[in-house]
Amino acid sequence: MKGSKGFMTINKIMVVGSGTMGSGIAQVMAQHGYEVILNDIKPEFVERGLQSITKQLDKAVSKDKMTEQEKEATLKRLTASTDYTDAEDVQLVIEAATENKNIKLDIFKKLAEITPEDAILASNTSSLSITEIANATSRPEKVIGMHFFNPVPVMKLVEVTRALTTDDQTAQTILDLSQSIGKTAIDVTDSPGFVVNRVLIPMINEAVFTVYEGVATMEEVDDSMKLGANHPMGPIALADYIGLDVCLAIMTVLYEGFNDSKYRPCPLLKKYVEAGRLGRKTGRGFYEYA
Ligand code: CAA
Repeated sequence: MKGSKGFMTINKIMVVGSGTMGSGIAQVMAQHGYEVILNDIKPEFVERGLQSITKQLDKAVSKDKMTEQEKEATLKRLTASTDYTDAEDVQLVIEAATENKNIKLDIFKKLAEITPEDAILASNTSSLSITEIANATSRPEKVIGMHFFNPVPVMKLVEVTRALTTDDQTAQTILDLSQSIGKTAIDVTDSPGFVVNRVLIPMINEAVFTVYEGVATMEEVDDSMKLGANHPMGPIALADYIGLDVCLAIMTVLYEGFNDSKYRPCPLLKKYVEAGRLGRKTGRGFYEYA
């Protein structure tokens, strides 16, 4: 399963960021035979990421979806790192660090210097311009977006986002790689929100408006969309799941990127973010979590 029928063979990958997205990406890559270095700024962050992967794999074994041997082989392909120089022999970096432009630009700049000059540098960003990230590096033609969805092991899509400068070889390699890990990839041009978030986040924002305007309670809005539109999760619960700060950041990118009032973030969404009620990750968003 490993490798790529594209132009470049990928065997070894560094995933930068060991949070929910980074550890999910690392898990899926390792499960499909790739050697993965999981990197973060502190050893305890990486350890937490590896523990969450082990927990997911244990679950898969208990459900007979994976053998104990496959689990052990997957874990063996994962190594921990807090040093970018560990990426000196990788063919690909997938960055899934915090959604902060300056942090990401710095990571890309540094990794472009450390990695082999033909290595691809991909970002899992959900809201920043891939073109701007590419421009911060010495090889913008090798920079691309590889946008996964949460939970990564379950969600089948990868948005492969070309910067203005991305070359065809890079794009084809990442499209093939996405397929090799059992995902469906779409080939999109860099544009605010790409495809999924451009459609999904305004829907969530509109759901928050219906609560804000007193049209219905949040439970009623969620039940309506689950029962009336067959969504697996209501939009308010999904907002908590994604993170209200992330939803607001994406809404703001759409608002500013298209300069169109139809993307104005709901004041209630802003208020929750200002209150630090960011959703599941802080134990409280629109709903409360034990
Ligand atoms: N990691 C791995 N597997 C997971 C998981 C996780 N974090 N969470 C759930 N699963 C698996 C479960 O193990 C279960 O697997 P089996 O069918 O093999 O038993 C399966 O998913 C279903 O899980 P549950 O039965 O626990 O619960 P559910 O049926 O309610 O599904 C859900 C949970 C998959 C999260 C579902 O509610 C769902 O699809 N919700 C919508 C998620 C979504 O829209 N994500 C995209 C967000 S946008 C984004 O990520 C991009 C961005 O830039 C903001």
